[in-house]
Amino acid sequence: MRKCYDVPMNPSAWIGAALAAMLLVPALVGCDRDNSGAPGATASGAGATASGAGATASGASATASGSGSKDHAANTASGAAPQPPEPMGDAARGRELATKHECHRCHGGLELPPIAATSHCVRCHIDVLAGKFDHKTEALGWRKNVAHLIAVPSLAATGARLDYAWLVRYLADPRDLRPALEPTMPRLGLDAQASRDIAAYLVSVGKTAATSPTTEHDALSGADDARGRKLIDEFQCGACHRMSGVDELAATSKLEPGKRETRAAVMLAPDLRFARERMGNAELVRWLLDPAAVKPDTLMPRTPMTPEQARDIAGYLMRATLAPQAVVAVPEALPLLERKVSFDEVKARVLDVTCRHCHGDPNAAFGDGGPGNTGGFGFPARGVNLTSYEQLMAGYLDSAGERKSLFAKMADGTPRIVAALWARHRELAGAPNPELRGMPLGLPPVPPADIQLFATWVAQGRPR
Ligand code: HEC
Ligand code: HEC
Ligand code: HEC
Ligand code: HEC
Repeated sequence: MRKCYDVPMNPSAWIGAALAAMLLVPALVGCDRDNSGAPGATASGAGATASGAGATASGASATASGSGSKDHAANTASGAAPQPPEPMGDAARGRELATKHECHRCHGGLELPPIAATSHCVRCHIDVLAGKFDHKTEALGWRKNVAHLIAVPSLAATGARLDYAWLVRYLADPRDLRPALEPTMPRLGLDAQASRDIAAYLVSVGKTAATSPTTEHDALSGADDARGRKLIDEFQCGACHRMSGVDELAATSKLEPGKRETRAAVMLAPDLRFARERMGNAELVRWLLDPAAVKPDTLMPRTPMTPEQARDIAGYLMRATLAPQAVVAVPEALPLLERKVSFDEVKARVLDVTCRHCHGDPNAAFGDGGPGNTGGFGFPARGVNLTSYEQLMAGYLDSAGERKSLFAKMADGTPRIVAALWARHRELAGAPNPELRGMPLGLPPVPPADIQLFATWVAQGRPR
């Protein structure tokens, strides 16, 4: 089997790599690509707009779409070979792992041991924005700074919606699914077995037995896909959704943009190109007819429609020919600055923006230094505290528990902490760095101009 996407990416090699990626595209056809498993397949225009950090969608395209592991195997527009079946994981172990990895600090809809309001990332952020978080007088000032983790899809009724094999691949190698949502599912370091076990647990959540094999099989028979597309435009699904790879969906209706629920619904609406990978035909038709009947806490409103209309829409979503996803390029590194850079600048423009919220000072936060310091999301304590000059200099704990410098050079000469910032750009471009997790974890990448500032400060000897 041939690997599809193996372009070396490091700060000095981007231009070459980007070029190579484009030139290699024709050669990729026929490699061992399975669309969703292929790193190059990351979200498209979606990633480009959502990151807002200069991720440019290049014209080069490296993937076809469609996969099949359920009754929709025949829907693949690309004719890609079906996936080998994914062995079923152990749901009980999966539940333990989900607890250990604290999925429910971000996601609702799972019945796991409760997470205190004071550590639930999303709950607390929503409370801060709503003015309900009464904690000293700083609280009001904090409101303007909370930008992320205010809407995260609930995982309720996953078993009635999402495909097992898709979940396994996604957990091991998450990609951007929602054009209007900046955070992505973080790479949690789950190996293949852990991903299977957790996926097995997820599909046991709200599993329905409502389907009979005949309805599964016939869900799309007689569907008029062209009429389905007309209905999608008529019903204004585009008010919330995008569907990359087809002509833009009509969106003229006025949602109530001021309402929090509306904003959250738009943020949480997936790019509809992925529906065919994630859902089976029958699940999709049921969803369209009445989303809340499938998932009670969903923010997708019910659009009154007949079963025939739902079938036609499903036909279009499952079978419309999709243009290949645009490749999100890793932006080019900027040359070091000529001027002097101070620590205060680095702190203000990088460390204080997102980093310190996960790499905090445990003394100032009831002993919890955040997932990047004292541990969380299943990560052991890595001891990275990014709140002060001294702490930054104190480094990190490696896998043997030894303190190492955050400025040690990687093989290509990039200081470790700077490499972690580039690794986040690479993740969004579908080429994660196997040695280093991208930072900030699951959040929009640091813009190249700010990485340039950080790299310059390091190169100047890290003055105080
Ligand atoms: C730091 C917050 C965070 C944590 C912790 C987290 N997730 Fe997520 N997850 C997200 C976000 C944000 C998304 C939506 C990403 C997108 O749409 O691009 C997401 C998406 C998902 C999805 C896709 C759901 C859908 O409807 O599209 C699944 C499945 C999922 N996460 C499972 C998990 C599991 C299992 C764990 C624990 C092992 C976990 N997540 C931990 C933030 C988190
Ligand atoms: C007890 C309430 C609370 C909890 C729990 C909490 N946060 Fe926050 N978070 C805040 C407040 C308040 C701010 C704004 C602080 C400021 O302005 O200095 C903030 C800001 C942030 C920011 C920077 C602003 C942004 O939106 O990008 C990030 C990143 C962040 N939090 C991540 C997390 C993560 C990850 C978790 C879960 C591990 C979490 N927070 C849990 C209250 C909380
Ligand atoms: C008000 C915003 C809104 C409107 C309008 C809307 N949706 Fe949704 N849709 C959502 C949200 C939010 C989700 C994610 C649901 C969840 O996980 O709870 C969703 C999920 C879906 C999904 C599942 C996709 C997946 O990959 O999981 C499909 C399919 C879908 N919508 C199709 C449609 C169609 C077709 C229409 C028009 C008839 C429509 N939606 C109208 C917000 C909306
Ligand atoms: C949402 C939480 C979160 C945010 C925000 C975050 N980190 Fe992290 N960080 C983590 C976690 C969790 C780990 C441990 C990961 C692991 O063990 O692989 C980590 C580890 C690291 C490491 C050590 C990596 C290694 O393997 O040596 C560095 C360096 C780092 N973070 C830098 C940053 C910087 C710089 C920022 C801000 C741009 C940042 N982080 C923002 C959660 C976060």
